[in-house]
Amino acid sequence: MSEIPDLVNTDNKISPLEVATNLTEYWSPQVIGEVNDCYIKVAKLKGEFVWHAHDDEDEMFLILKGQLSIEQEDKVIDLTEGEIFVVKKGVRHNPVAKEECLVMLLEPKNTLHTGDVIDDKTKTISQQLNNLND
Ligand code: NI
Repeated sequence: MSEIPDLVNTDNKISPLEVATNLTEYWSPQVIGEVNDCYIKVAKLKGEFVWHAHDDEDEMFLILKGQLSIEQEDKVIDLTEGEIFVVKKGVRHNPVAKEECLVMLLEPKNTLHTGDVIDDKTKTISQQLNNLND
């Protein structure tokens, strides 16, 4: 039996916005699918995350609802609904959502969402696969 729940294995279509809307915990991504070596995840964000980097992985953010600022050491990227931004591997970043924001993420399966930082916000992949069942 696979560790991947039905949400990922299904042949049915999925609404990232609907899944993200139903999340109950901020900064706790839910895996909703897989594409080759990447997971598709959604998350509900509010407030400030934690400064981190992913040494070997790029990380894509797509804003489903609201606004998100991605702070980097040399600039801040302000994103709104429908926009994407790819944080390049090795670049330190900190997502900040002044108001509640829903995002979709695309990142390699071995990516820890807090990167090189283990924080009380850090969720394991297993937690990210089963968020909706908590
Ligand atoms: Ni990151």
